[in-house]
Amino acid sequence: MDNKFGVKILGTGSYVPEKILTNFDLEKIVETSDEWITTRTGIQQRRIIDKTQTSSDLAYNASMRAIEDAKLSVNDIDLIIVATVTPDMPLPATACFLQEKLKAFNAVAFDISAACTGFIYGVATAKAFVESGMYKTVLLVGVEALSRVTDWTDRNTCVLFGDGAGAMIFQASKEDNDIVSVYLGADGTHTGLLDLPAGGAKTPTTHETVDQKLHTIKMAGKDVFKVAVVKMAEAAGKALELANKTDKDIALYVPHQANLRIIDAVVKKAGINKDKVYINVQKYGNMSSATTIVALDEARQEGRIAKNDLVELVAFGGGLTWGACILKLGL
Ligand code: UT7
Repeated sequence: MDNKFGVKILGTGSYVPEKILTNFDLEKIVETSDEWITTRTGIQQRRIIDKTQTSSDLAYNASMRAIEDAKLSVNDIDLIIVATVTPDMPLPATACFLQEKLKAFNAVAFDISAACTGFIYGVATAKAFVESGMYKTVLLVGVEALSRVTDWTDRNTCVLFGDGAGAMIFQASKEDNDIVSVYLGADGTHTGLLDLPAGGAKTPTTHETVDQKLHTIKMAGKDVFKVAVVKMAEAAGKALELANKTDKDIALYVPHQANLRIIDAVVKKAGINKDKVYINVQKYGNMSSATTIVALDEARQEGRIAKNDLVELVAFGGGLTWGACILKLGL
């Protein structure tokens, strides 16, 4: 069946909290060193959400920037999708808190949970809704307040994560097709490699779960690392294949920024030209679903993306989930 509409990308925006936590700050909290963190991950600092803020506040700031960039009014938005694993609350959806903050009352609103691949799953979801004609103008946000679910006594994880938000606006179009391709993957046989064990229906909250710090992120770092390299390289190739494009057609790659060594290994495995890879992991660490969209927005601000350039986003995360999409930035 032919699609009713194509998708035009109208704007992007991002927001990170002001507070900076450096590797040297972390040296005072856990037994670690700037040298270890920098050489093993490439991360030098990360942003930490203010006590007075929550995920929907970060999402609001990023969304307002994207709405302004798109030259739209909040009333134009008819669908809000928030990708996050750190919602304001388990119930209701953070997208509903965001709708209220934006006063975007013409929009329906829901969250999706696909960990670090959340934004790319969101691109696929937005594409399907717009192409079918069901919704016309979509606000997609990737937002995380990972510092709220970090075990600050665990050096294996607490040095890795940061907080932030990014947003993109899509609109139905008769002429444009800016989501050139999307490829998604998932493997539920490895759910235990990266999870937040308690607080859900499986392990409800008790005094014991709090005492055992089961409300914080746990990760088998080495295992996640290995699968991430294989699946991100595979996803990068699949999205190119689906778009009938080659590496030469891509102006900029925006990979998930969990670890510089993962990015380097993916670049090597997928045969990508490193000069075309955008990197900001040193500034923010891993912001899960916010990572790729914050990086894309910053790359635009830095003039790394020219009008009508093709940009490929590639990500991998808990689930396990992975994916890639090729976007035409006609902005
Ligand atoms: O994209 C989805 C999310 N994925 C990720 O965020 C990350 C995936 N994994 C990784 O990035 C890496 O596996 C880590 C950065 C988490 C760890 O790097 P690694 O090279 O795999 O180190 P390791 O876990 O093998 O640890 C090596 C050593 C250990 O000491 P021993 O057992 O060799 O004595 C750790 O205890 O480094 C120690 N270590 C640390 N030392 C100082 C672990 N964390 C730290 C730390 N500071 N923060």
